[in-house]
Amino acid sequence: MRAVMTLKDAPAQLQEPVKPTAKTKRHSLYKALDSAMLEYGYDRTGLIPTLHQAQEMFGYISKSAMRYIATRMGVPLSHVYGTASFYSHFNLTAPSGKHQITVCTGTCCHLNGSACILRRLKKMLHFEDGKGHDEGRWELKTVRCTGSCSAGPVMLVNDELFTKLDPDSAVSLLNEFE
Ligand code: FES
Repeated sequence: MRAVMTLKDAPAQLQEPVKPTAKTKRHSLYKALDSAMLEYGYDRTGLIPTLHQAQEMFGYISKSAMRYIATRMGVPLSHVYGTASFYSHFNLTAPSGKHQITVCTGTCCHLNGSACILRRLKKMLHFEDGKGHDEGRWELKTVRCTGSCSAGPVMLVNDELFTKLDPDSAVSLLNEFE
């Protein structure tokens, strides 16, 4: 009769937990993306929630994530790219700072003083043309409208929306982020 082997009998190196590599981690993230698409039966009506899911998981929507979604949903890549690039909420480039600040410079926010907020933040963070000494911690960018015009000027820090700002309140709320 054959002896039953348990994990305790296995060679020491097999008992070590498998450390996830970048490849295995990414693989399981794609599996999670698949479950988001599965909820909509891989139908294109689930494209926007799937893009949200991708952004949440990867921090931005990469070209390979777009290609993957296009293939799995059976829609042209141009459609996925067109949708992702249409909405200002979606990031198509990898974040370069720990926190992303997005100041709205759309018409309503501009009329309510967003240019002053932007100027003050650039000065505070020593940013010129998107580059500054604090780049590893903060990433500063602008958006044309977040759809919250009546509450402007608005600014996003990561995914959180802050409304009715002025330069002072914008600066002090950044101090709350590590
Ligand atoms: S213009 Fe700023 S939210 Fe619309």
